[in-house]
Amino acid sequence: MSLSNFRTLGRSGLVVSPLCLGTMTFGPGAWGADEASARAIFNAYREAGGNFVDTADIYAGGVSEEFVGKFIAETRSRDEVVLATKFGFNGSTSPLTGASGGTGNPHAGGAGAKNIHRALHASLKRLNTDYIDLYWMHIWDGVTPVEEIVQTLGDLVRAGKIRHYAFSDMPAWVAMKAATLASERRVPGPIAMQLEYSLVARDVEQEHFPAAREAGMGVMPWSPLAGGFLTGKYKREDVRDTGRLSGANPFGDSKFTDRNWDILDTLREVAAELDCAPAQAALAWAMARPGVGSTLIGARSLSQLSGNIMAADLHLGEDQMNRLNAASKPVDGFTASLGSQAVRQMVFGGNDVIGWGAQSAGLA
Ligand SMILES: NC(=O)c1ccc[n+]([C@@H]2O[C@H](COP(=O)([O-])OP(=O)(O)OC[C@H]3O[C@@H](n4cnc5c(N)ncnc54)[C@H](OP(=O)(O)O)[C@@H]3O)[C@@H](O)[C@H]2O)c1
Repeated sequence: MSLSNFRTLGRSGLVVSPLCLGTMTFGPGAWGADEASARAIFNAYREAGGNFVDTADIYAGGVSEEFVGKFIAETRSRDEVVLATKFGFNGSTSPLTGASGGTGNPHAGGAGAKNIHRALHASLKRLNTDYIDLYWMHIWDGVTPVEEIVQTLGDLVRAGKIRHYAFSDMPAWVAMKAATLASERRVPGPIAMQLEYSLVARDVEQEHFPAAREAGMGVMPWSPLAGGFLTGKYKREDVRDTGRLSGANPFGDSKFTDRNWDILDTLREVAAELDCAPAQAALAWAMARPGVGSTLIGARSLSQLSGNIMAADLHLGEDQMNRLNAASKPVDGFTASLGSQAVRQMVFGGNDVIGWGAQSAGLA
């Protein structure tokens, strides 16, 4: 597999690379890359055959979008690049924008029609383009009716301002409801889900992955290296404060847990067998998981990117996948119990019944 081993994203005609270049690191900020480093990363990704670039309006207060727009213009690659950006976090107060605190404008965030139009207008300007290929709702705001989101984004598809839309960081039912409304109304629906997914973050397998499969959405893992934890550069005995990884963050607690260190031990073993870096094995694992359409890679330097891109050519053996799956197996919850053999036997009078999902996936 290489970056030019293209596939469609979900049940759509959008053709993308198996690794998508994440640009949260582009621009000033605690984890940022300056313009020269960001350009080198962008160009190296493109030279390796990659066509899929992901940014967001709030990354580095809009500087990430400006860099991406500039690099695309410099390389005259607008027709070749699948350009994705996001709306949703507040543009007036978010810590990621660098804007100071205080009371912000509630209309500068969320998924209401007013903010979506405001955000898109600003992103198009910063990106120096007149359309977005894939427009992400960055985060569920918890209040806007799904009907309004589908209406607003579908209208933007019809207006030609965006080609497709998709959802990031939302409950599975929100994406499923949007997909159902869209297909019933014969209007454009979401084509993908962007979710935290890695060897140390697999809880989305329970509700999100089945919903994505059912609705024809590709899953795009973000932080497949758990923000750097799965590179193996941190040690169990290490207690240094990395901020993003060692402490609580808006999406969860510290990655430095006994369970995660044990998963990392198995990853190191597998990587040693393959004579590769743990980061490459962790990315290859994510890419090989059923339902994953394209995996986001984040890099702060050219050397990190080059190493990570090599994951696209790495193949994990069945035994290696099984060991990694077992070491990182999420704790089963209520939904998982519904699919258990014991429950199925109770439903089908002791018989095994093979459903269409398994038949069509060639598992039966
Ligand atoms: N939708 C969302 O809510 C959401 C959230 C987060 C990210 N994202 C997207 O997903 C992309 C990737 O996320 P992420 O940056 O968290 O991914 P990640 O791959 O889990 O972490 C990337 C970070 O790990 C470190 N790293 C990467 N490769 C390395 C290597 N080979 N050796 C050592 N360190 C390495 C670097 O940080 P250091 O050098 O600082 O250690 C790098 O910035 C983002 O750019 C963004 O586009 C989306």
